[in-house]
Amino acid sequence: MPNKVKKQPSAVKGFSRFAHTYDQYNMIQAEVAEELVSRLKKSHYSTIIDIGCGSGAVIKNLQNRSITFDKFIAVDLSEAMLSLHPSGANIHQCCIDFSSHDSFNELCGNKEALVLSSSALQWSKDLDLTLSRLAKCGKRAYFAIFTSGTFKTLHECAGIRSPIYSDKELKKVISNYYEATFMLQSYQLTFSNTKEMFRYIQKSGVSGGERQLGFKEMKRLMEAYPLDYLEFEVLFVEAKPF
Ligand SMILES: C[S@@+](CC[C@H](N)C(=O)[O-])C[C@H]1O[C@@H](n2cnc3c(N)ncnc32)[C@H](O)[C@@H]1O
Repeated sequence: MPNKVKKQPSAVKGFSRFAHTYDQYNMIQAEVAEELVSRLKKSHYSTIIDIGCGSGAVIKNLQNRSITFDKFIAVDLSEAMLSLHPSGANIHQCCIDFSSHDSFNELCGNKEALVLSSSALQWSKDLDLTLSRLAKCGKRAYFAIFTSGTFKTLHECAGIRSPIYSDKELKKVISNYYEATFMLQSYQLTFSNTKEMFRYIQKSGVSGGERQLGFKEMKRLMEAYPLDYLEFEVLFVEAKPF
């Protein structure tokens, strides 16, 4: 299994990963979901909505911390991901696109709900729309959203623009709909060789925008990349709708 190797100064957390590990491509998302859930204040919630639930990192962390709920609504665009999500009598699965207009009608019935989202909202095609709808779905929200600080040096090296929002853009849109507090957290994932590092980028859910590059450019980038680690940046948000 991958090892946490060094405690970084300031807000950077360091990890090292080695080839052929089992849980290969989602270590940072797993750490982010754990951190997000650790921020919850109560031990019981009536309804929890998990936006972009994936295979269930959030609900598993709730269970690990003995945080209970009457009803859990697991939302994801991907049927395949939802099929991996834990099921149960009080777990409702909802296959919707959070970037689309009509998606939220079935979610917004419960104004008391707690809305969570870990490592997913960076993929909203229309963040303003998504947040305007989410703000109507519950009375408190906790989000963890990857920012354009993710793969920063890689993007600089390749001369490409991050495909995801900057922390400033995120804060601005969130502040249109929520009274929010923000915490920016950096992570570093160290690799034993460049090939492994680039395989990680291609396989992890946090695309680096590298698809904009051709084979030759990619090869050049691998040679020129100056670090033995990848950078990730996540904005943690605790928010109350206006
Ligand atoms: C990186 S995964 C995170 C999954 C999980 N929350 C976790 O922490 O491990 C992002 C998830 O967001 C989902 N997703 C991406 N775009 C979406 C959209 N427009 N609407 C709903 N879900 C979406 C993906 O299918 C994927 O399961």
